[in-house]
Amino acid sequence: MGTREKLIAIFQEKPGKLVSGEELSNQLGVSRTSIWKHLSKLREMGYQVEAIPSQGYRLIGAPDLLLPESISNGLSTTLIGKEIKHFSTLESTNLTASQLGEQGAAEGLVCIAEEQTSGKGRLGRYWISPTGINLYMSILLRPQLPPYDAPKLTFLSVVALAETFKEVCNLKVEAKWPNDLLCNGKKIAGLLNEMSAEADRLNQVIMGIGVNLNMTAEQFPTHLRTPPTSAMLETGVKIDRIAFTRTLLERLDSWYQTFLQEGFTPVRSAWESISNTIGRKVAIDSGDQHLVGRVTGLDNMGALLVQIGDSVQTIYAGDVTLIED
Ligand code: BTN
Repeated sequence: MGTREKLIAIFQEKPGKLVSGEELSNQLGVSRTSIWKHLSKLREMGYQVEAIPSQGYRLIGAPDLLLPESISNGLSTTLIGKEIKHFSTLESTNLTASQLGEQGAAEGLVCIAEEQTSGKGRLGRYWISPTGINLYMSILLRPQLPPYDAPKLTFLSVVALAETFKEVCNLKVEAKWPNDLLCNGKKIAGLLNEMSAEADRLNQVIMGIGVNLNMTAEQFPTHLRTPPTSAMLETGVKIDRIAFTRTLLERLDSWYQTFLQEGFTPVRSAWESISNTIGRKVAIDSGDQHLVGRVTGLDNMGALLVQIGDSVQTIYAGDVTLIED
């Protein structure tokens, strides 16, 4: 933690209480002048720090920004989020995380942007990313795995996200294969994992996560394939983006460790328990093929098993539409 993060942590440990300049200086092991400079910087960033002459300082407001200083405070992860980079605007957090990865950034790096100008969705689609209200985040991972194992990471992130919605927003969400999260049948989050690999091993995986947190109905375009929603629309209350991000990083970190240590089986069971796809009649569009059948489960690679007539087909990619029967 840098000095600014530590300063915020001290204030947040004693909400609303005055902390003297001397106490701050002693706790952080830096001069009073240095404390004063850091406090000015925090004010520039949007933190409201009240100064009461000859008594001390207290934090009375924090900016609604996903700043590393706020997210890291008390974050209990072992790998994911050890470094967090925050950007006001980016083309795509996946693109930036991938470039930083290629330049040698360490596993666990998190890139967050307040807005994306070319947010990427699955199958070459666009992810609508207005500023300051949602979460657009990419995580750099370097699992020691063969390339064919990379898709399994998507299921892990779906499960971590579903747990986060429950814990932070008290919202029940469902997983639609392979990587959508739906709330009351509407899309609330999407995931886009991108990998670079050699013949037999992964170099890096960028786990891209977009969550509609505080979007209003008017902010969604009208032409989307799946009707969209946001956590605020579903709950009627504004979501604390920092709390959501922190919990999500902790859930992801924990599921990533489980996956590395125990393999895909626990991830698959957790995904199946929140899936809206298993047992359902579906139409699958995979570019050149259009199939209709009933989903029987996931195979041990994360592919969808679909009963079509007398045979079970394995579907590796495509758009799934649920059909009422
Ligand atoms: C989808 O459902 O089509 C996937 C959407 C993934 C969007 C996220 S937002 C953060 C990250 N950066 C991107 O450009 N895309 C992903």
